[in-house]
Amino acid sequence: MPPALRGMDEPITPMPPAPALDPRKVQLGERLFGDRRLSRDDSKSCLSCHDISTNGASTRPHDVDLDGAELPFNTLTVFNATHNFRFGWEGKYREVGADVTSSLVNPRIMGSDLNTIANKLKQDPVVRAGFFAAYGRGPDGDNIVDALVNYEKTLVTPGSRFDRWLEGDGTALSSEELEGYHQFKSLGCVSCHQGVNVGGNLFQRRGIFHPLASPDPAILRVPSLRNVGTTPPYFHDGSAPTLEEAVRKMGVSQLNATLTDHQIKAIVAFLRSLTGEYRGAQVGGEP
Ligand code: HEC
Ligand code: HEC
Repeated sequence: MPPALRGMDEPITPMPPAPALDPRKVQLGERLFGDRRLSRDDSKSCLSCHDISTNGASTRPHDVDLDGAELPFNTLTVFNATHNFRFGWEGKYREVGADVTSSLVNPRIMGSDLNTIANKLKQDPVVRAGFFAAYGRGPDGDNIVDALVNYEKTLVTPGSRFDRWLEGDGTALSSEELEGYHQFKSLGCVSCHQGVNVGGNLFQRRGIFHPLASPDPAILRVPSLRNVGTTPPYFHDGSAPTLEEAVRKMGVSQLNATLTDHQIKAIVAFLRSLTGEYRGAQVGGEP
């Protein structure tokens, strides 16, 4: 353990490394994540909206459903999602497996059903062999979801500069980033955005002091701010194009505070230090 571990005293804790899971299940899950046969008409895979090579989401305010119509919510990143206490903007699901199942069967996401998917995958000898190797049987609803869940658990991004600072590296943050973190705490942002995911562990009302973005739903799971510098646009409706704007609006709506340009700049600098690494490369994606 590093000598000056700060994590203990701080309201935010470092992102742990990916758990050690059965690599056969993880590899199978990764393969399924990019497999279009999981959608009703073989047109979309999970990757179509959750781009793992960038930010685990997309850069569009709204992704589109199988009929080309816009989805109601901005796409959440799948990076670090398994560290949230509930899933989806409204926190409707308690288990990540329930969220995965819902992604598969929701008529506006993959629009399929587990039996149909299993039957399609059974036709593919390579995928079938992958299921036998990992589960000792061919594809079925349970192991399809389980493989995707195993993969999702590995989609974590430790190693951000902020985490290195938490772990005792005093040189990891600039003075501006540190000032931003102090503002984040003293203004009260941290009362909602906290814990390992800098969010994702509470339900909160939004627009407490002043209206924010579209008024519904009134209560949301507080979003994680991990990698937030890479995931514009912001808010559940994708209405804030930049991080500066999102921070300014948060001050007004959630804290009744009009932040100065100086404060916003420092807080944004701090938030950008929350960008972690996936498979050794920094998470990217901001256009
Ligand atoms: C058409 C775009 C689209 C596709 C395809 C898609 N998703 Fe999503 N995903 C979304 C949107 C939009 C949300 C936010 C939905 C909400 O909160 O109601 C989301 C949310 C999630 C979340 C929750 C993240 C969190 O922090 O709570 C997970 C996990 C997830 N998707 C996994 C998957 C998996 C696995 C697949 C493939 C089986 C998939 N998604 C396919 C658009 C998509
Ligand atoms: C009372 C709880 C609360 C407080 C205090 C709060 N937030 Fe938030 N924050 C939320 C909620 C809820 C959302 C989701 C709003 C939405 O999508 O409509 C959010 C969204 C955000 C987002 C956009 C995240 C995304 O991925 O779209 C950022 C950035 C953010 N907050 C930063 C801050 C900063 C900086 C402060 C302090 C100035 C702050 N928040 C104070 C609850 C809070």
